[in-house]
Amino acid sequence: MKSLLRAAALAMVVGLSAAGAWAGDAAAGQGAYAVCAACHGQNGEGNAALNAPRLAGQEGWYIKRQLAAYNAGMRGTKPGDMYGMQMRPMANAVSGEAAVDNLVAYIATLAPPAGTPTVNGDVAAGKALYAVCAACHGQQAEGLEQMGGPALAGQSDWYLVRQIQNYKKGLRGYHPQDTFGRQMAPMVATLADDAAINNVVAYINSLAK
Ligand code: HEC
Ligand code: HEC
Repeated sequence: MKSLLRAAALAMVVGLSAAGAWAGDAAAGQGAYAVCAACHGQNGEGNAALNAPRLAGQEGWYIKRQLAAYNAGMRGTKPGDMYGMQMRPMANAVSGEAAVDNLVAYIATLAPPAGTPTVNGDVAAGKALYAVCAACHGQQAEGLEQMGGPALAGQSDWYLVRQIQNYKKGLRGYHPQDTFGRQMAPMVATLADDAAINNVVAYINSLAK
C-alpha cells in the first residue's frame, strides 16, 4: 500500500477519478463511509481490537470486488468464519453500483500513517517464500489488477496472517463461483506452518511504504 504516496497524490487521485479511471465521486461517498468508520477507523487505518483490517491504500477494484463477494455469499458464510460473518451484513449497507463506486473513491482519499507491525518473523526466509506470491501480488506487494491479487504491503499484518489461515481452513476460497478466492486458496500450501506464515508476513511488512 502507498499511504504516504496517497497523501502526496491526493489531488492526482481525485483528478484520475474525474477523468473516468475510477467512476466514483469521493465527496458523495464520504457519508456512506460513516458506518464503515465504526470498525475500520475514521481514516481507514483498521482496528485490531475489532478485527477490522486497514482499507486505506487498498486497490479500489479489490475493495469493490470484496463487497460484491460478501453480498453474493462468497465470503462470510462458512460456519466458523466469525469475522467474515460480522462484515457480511455491512456490505449490504451500500446498495447500487454508483454508491459503491463513490464509497470506494472516498476510501482512496484516506491516508493514515503506517500501522505498527505486530508479527515477528525471519524477513530473509520470508523473502524466499514471497517469490511465488509476487506473480499475483506484485514484486513490492503493491497489488496486480491483471492477476486479481490485492495489495498486501501496508495491510494490517495480523489480518494477513488470519486470511492465510482462513484459506488453509477453507473459510475463504470455498465458493464454486469465487474465481479469485479459488485461485488464492491452493497458494497457501507453500506456507508449511505458522513460522512460514509469520516469515512471509514479516517480509511483506518490510515492503510497506
Ligand atoms: C461491525 C464492524 C464492521 C463494519 C461496520 C464494517 N466492517 Fe468491513 N470488515 C469487518 C471485519 C471484522 C472484517 C474482516 C473479516 C475477515 O476477517 O474475514 C472486515 C473486512 C472488510 C473488507 C475486506 C478487506 C480485505 O482486505 O479483504 C472490506 C473491503 C471491508 N470490510 C469494507 C467495509 C466497508 C466498505 C464498510 C462500510 C460499508 C465496512 N467494511 C463496515 C468489520 C466491519
Ligand atoms: C495465482 C495468483 C496468486 C498467488 C501466486 C498468490 N495469491 Fe494471494 N491472492 C490472490 C488473489 C486473486 C486474491 C484475492 C482473492 C479474492 O478476491 O477473494 C488473493 C488474496 C490474498 C490474501 C488476502 C488479502 C486480503 O486483503 O484479504 C492474502 C493474505 C494473500 N493472498 C497472500 C498470499 C501469499 C502470502 C502468497 C504467496 C505464498 C500468495 N498470496 C500467492 C492470488 C494469488
